[in-house]
Amino acid sequence: MYKRKTVLLSVLMSLLGLTTQQSSTETLLLVIEVARHGARSPEQFSQYNKTSVNFNDTSQLLEGGWDQHYEIGKSLRQRLVTEQKLLSADYSTNEVYAQATSATRTLNSTQAQLSGLFPDQAPAHKWLKASPGTKTQGYTINQIAQADNLITRLNEANCAKYKSAFDDVTASAAYKRGRGYWYQTYNQTLSNLVGRPNLSETQFDATCEYLFFSQYTNIVLNFTPTAFDRAYCSAYEDGWIYKTSFGTDQEWKLVSYEFLNQLNEFALFLNGTRTIAQLTTFQKYFKKTAGPMPKFLLYLSHDEIMSAYLEGLGFHQPYGSFPAAGIFFEFFRDSAQNNQIFVRTYFKQTLGETKSITLADQTSNVISLAAFQSTIAKRIQLSGITDIAKSCAEAYVSSNTYYDPELYITELKQKYAADLSGISLLQSMTLKGLIMIGTMMSFSYY
Ligand SMILES: *[C@@H]1O[C@H](CO)[C@@H](O)[C@H](O)[C@H]1NC(C)=O
Ligand SMILES: *[C@@H]1O[C@H](CO)[C@@H](O)[C@H](O)[C@H]1NC(C)=O
Ligand SMILES: *[C@@H]1O[C@H](CO)[C@@H](O)[C@H](O)[C@H]1NC(C)=O
Ligand SMILES: *[C@@H]1O[C@H](CO)[C@@H](O)[C@H](O)[C@H]1NC(C)=O
Ligand SMILES: *[C@@H]1O[C@H](CO)[C@@H](O)[C@H](O)[C@H]1NC(C)=O
Ligand SMILES: *[C@@H]1O[C@H](CO)[C@@H](O)[C@H](O)[C@H]1NC(C)=O
Repeated sequence: MYKRKTVLLSVLMSLLGLTTQQSSTETLLLVIEVARHGARSPEQFSQYNKTSVNFNDTSQLLEGGWDQHYEIGKSLRQRLVTEQKLLSADYSTNEVYAQATSATRTLNSTQAQLSGLFPDQAPAHKWLKASPGTKTQGYTINQIAQADNLITRLNEANCAKYKSAFDDVTASAAYKRGRGYWYQTYNQTLSNLVGRPNLSETQFDATCEYLFFSQYTNIVLNFTPTAFDRAYCSAYEDGWIYKTSFGTDQEWKLVSYEFLNQLNEFALFLNGTRTIAQLTTFQKYFKKTAGPMPKFLLYLSHDEIMSAYLEGLGFHQPYGSFPAAGIFFEFFRDSAQNNQIFVRTYFKQTLGETKSITLADQTSNVISLAAFQSTIAKRIQLSGITDIAKSCAEAYVSSNTYYDPELYITELKQKYAADLSGISLLQSMTLKGLIMIGTMMSFSYY
């Protein structure tokens, strides 16, 4: 029965995948990518390493994270340079605009992705798996200081109102229930697994984080997590985005506001009603009013920001973005449809996986430019914000309304159903004295 489920799922995935394949009648005009930095070291050291190999630092990009972005760059080269010819073979700031946050890991991820996309310009780097480019001038990356970054890293450090919203969610019974559920239910299981009695919630969090990021390294753990352990740990870690981006609507409204404004501006630029100098939100960061308008915009950011953008688009995703996951917007002209402009939106949790993103009130992930622009404009209006700096300085008033924690638990249980129920099955078999062991062994693909 599990096998059939898998087959159905892959059929469904390829159907979804079809809507993200472009046809030969399409001409790309503009591609926007918002990606999470690659795999990183955890926030703090733990001693769960079986050998002397441990993380070398905290909160920095790992070699595995560099490789993730390099590979994305390579596949984008195939698509945007070789096949679509949206971009020239050589890197040019006239065509490419890249923006990182103040975190070194987003800057390094941008360097990695551009090294894959434009290998002839790739500077020598200890993790580069190819020869450095022969035209090694490197890339121009606009790293935005935290205080000024109200677009790709609005958080408690630069927006007082957001900080109040964040504190409100953190203190709420809804958050404690929604995220605490995973700790309350599985603290003993994880304690037993790692051989540390009575893990506090902070230790539980740090352990799950270590377990997750060590997957991208050569670290051998001194315990052996099963798919079940990884599932409840992932569900717990997913609780981070409840806390930062959708516990209350005010969070995602503040975080996504400037990005939605930019999308709206780009749509108006492509329909001919605005010049590049009139893209005021974009120009706050781009600062080249004479243009030209780049054709590939790369924003390297963070899990909680991507989650808030998705909420801003009207697409609720209860789980977080993996390292190097990306949201893509493709603006293209279709000669089979009166040369009209369309926008395709999708999410890639991993390089090999594509999921359609359907904007609020839309039924497809490919819509006309006009439909895209009007939907984005409505989402901006819904936020009630007209000036982000002003909004951040305004007093916060709690709505006392939080994302339903029971719904949230249910959404994550569904997401991790296969792995979470897998072990309950094993456990119940164990309780029944392993009488079913023969049947169990036939689940070879389990
Ligand atoms: C694990 O890493 C730490 C820090 O690098 C090191 O001190 C410790 O000896 C390592 N553990 C083992 C078992 O090698
Ligand atoms: C730490 O650095 C060493 C030396 O560069 C490297 O071999 C090792 O893989 C690094 N560890 C991790 C977890 O990245
Ligand atoms: C990250 O970027 C900084 C600033 O350019 C640089 O000094 C550092 O070497 C980079 N680290 C990696 C791992 O790429
Ligand atoms: C830890 O897990 C046990 C067993 O599931 C549970 O009874 C207990 O309440 C949990 N502890 C905390 C602090 O949540
Ligand atoms: C774990 O917590 C339980 C309940 O609070 C307590 O009885 C027990 O002694 C604790 N175990 C350890 C090893 O601290
Ligand atoms: C561009 O979009 C705006 C806003 O939807 C609309 O008012 C305008 O008519 C459009 N212009 C063209 C040329 O399509």
